[in-house]
Amino acid sequence: MSWKNDQVTKEETDKIINLAKDALNVDGDFVEFGCYKGDTSLLIAEVLQGSSKRLWIYDSFEGLPEKSAFDESVLGQDFRAGELYATKREVKERFLRAGLAVPVIKKAWFSDLESGDLPERIALAFLDGDFYESIKDSLKLVESKMVDGGILIVHDYNNAALPGVQRAVDEWGVSGRKFRIFLL
Ligand SMILES: C[S@@+](CC[C@H](N)C(=O)[O-])C[C@H]1O[C@@H](n2cnc3c(N)ncnc32)[C@H](O)[C@@H]1O
Repeated sequence: MSWKNDQVTKEETDKIINLAKDALNVDGDFVEFGCYKGDTSLLIAEVLQGSSKRLWIYDSFEGLPEKSAFDESVLGQDFRAGELYATKREVKERFLRAGLAVPVIKKAWFSDLESGDLPERIALAFLDGDFYESIKDSLKLVESKMVDGGILIVHDYNNAALPGVQRAVDEWGVSGRKFRIFLL
């Protein structure tokens, strides 16, 4: 499948795909928090073809939530509540059209999800919720499920338009974790 994504650069996508290939050797499933239209989900699902691992993807399917004060930035004014809206149906249909296994697709605000909504063990987590609370909530959900040697990727850590991402990760703290952390 060729690269097509207005949210993640080609270079970042290549990195995610390589990490996903690496995580095939780790026990557990793959999760993505903030799937939007499913561009990256489809590429990850392609990596999973032939594997017994499942992909679980999560989104409000109502677009972005309200910003917190930590998300305010001059560069990020276009990131507003309700932007980046996609439907669960369109994402599911894209998988069917591509002939790929349809992931577990959960429509929810991350703050409403519970441990039972996630797989028991996570080999790869891709967090792409853009805002402080969204990243904080998704980190809290995945941290106890990440297996040793697993891979956690947080998108937009270095994006000045979305300062809440870096704040959420720094408050959470990356040191001393038994899984590998990649901040894109
Ligand atoms: C940048 S887009 C994701 C792009 C996608 N990962 C990709 O690679 O194409 C961010 C998505 O996160 C979702 N989102 C952000 N915060 C959320 C929250 N707190 N709960 C549920 N969904 C959230 C939005 O609805 C939006 O679809």
